Amino acid sequence: MRATEPRTLAPPARRMAHVTSVARLGAYHVLRALDSGGPADPEPGQFYMLSSAERWGGGADERPYLPRAFSYARVREGELSFLLEVVGPGTARLAELGPGEGLALVGPLGVGWRPPHEGTRPLLVGGGIGAAPLICLEEELLAGGAGGEPPAVLLGFRSAAHAEAAALFAGAPALATDDGSAGRQALVTDLLREQLDADPAATVFACGPHAMLEAVRLACAELGVAAQLALESGMACGFGACFGCVVATREGYIRLCVDGPVLDAQALA
Ligand SMILES: Cc1cc2nc3c(=O)[nH]c(=O)nc-3n(C[C@H](O)[C@H](O)[C@H](O)COP(=O)(O)OP(=O)(O)OC[C@H]3O[C@@H](n4cnc5c(N)ncnc54)[C@H](O)[C@@H]3O)c2cc1C
Ligand code: FES
Repeated sequence: MRATEPRTLAPPARRMAHVTSVARLGAYHVLRALDSGGPADPEPGQFYMLSSAERWGGGADERPYLPRAFSYARVREGELSFLLEVVGPGTARLAELGPGEGLALVGPLGVGWRPPHEGTRPLLVGGGIGAAPLICLEEELLAGGAGGEPPAVLLGFRSAAHAEAAALFAGAPALATDDGSAGRQALVTDLLREQLDADPAATVFACGPHAMLEAVRLACAELGVAAQLALESGMACGFGACFGCVVATREGYIRLCVDGPVLDAQALA
């Protein structure tokens, strides 16, 4: 894990990867593709802009048209894995790709997770599809890249079908679901609060829906705990050209695709 923060300053070229599989995992899909022409060492928390080589934007209303942003979940010998939640035409098209089909991609992009603060244990907190960038982070922390303790992982999902994504983690994540069909019937932020009340010497790494991240930010601010948040905003280009992804910080507006998507919680306005 890099201690510095290299920004992506120039648009890398779009290249073609080849789909190796798309598999259903409960409520989600796992898309795997061999990216032989790309860097073998993306940083956890970075993302790719994805589109299919064919039938992308060819529908009656020309959607999805623009590529879509996805955090990579894992990389193994040039094979990238993405965890997808189908919410619209782009994610639906990616989820129906088959082995051998082309996956156009740009990336890795943005600035990912930084190492935990010295003397703190890493606490990974994911909500729903926000679990994706924590899978490679857990792997990196377990490999000892950042030194220190193995990470604790807390995950919250809507239901047991969504919670199947927890199987992608190496350890045994603590689970909460909205309906109690897997793990505890609670919010993942309830689990976080219990952990921090017991031992606040942690660095929190969180990704999930906006309301969850805001609750994480407030809890960490109240207890003086360092937190990094992977945010989402609508991204049209992914490399700084369109200004579609700006978010407000204490220092003014930033483009999330080049200065994020991972930001320090204290930086947020
Ligand atoms: C840095 C980053 C990393 C991401 N990582 C993942 C990931 O690992 N797995 C995954 O499934 N999704 C991820 N997403 C979200 C993903 O980009 C959107 O779900 C996707 O663009 C939706 O495209 P669509 O054509 O299927 O749906 P659309 O028709 O474009 O949208 C369907 C619904 O989702 C909302 N939506 C679309 N894009 C976004 C967005 N970027 N942020 C918030 N809401 C949005 C729309 O407002 C609409 O309500 C990530 C987004 C960002 C910015
Ligand atoms: S997505 Fe275009 S500037 Fe960030």
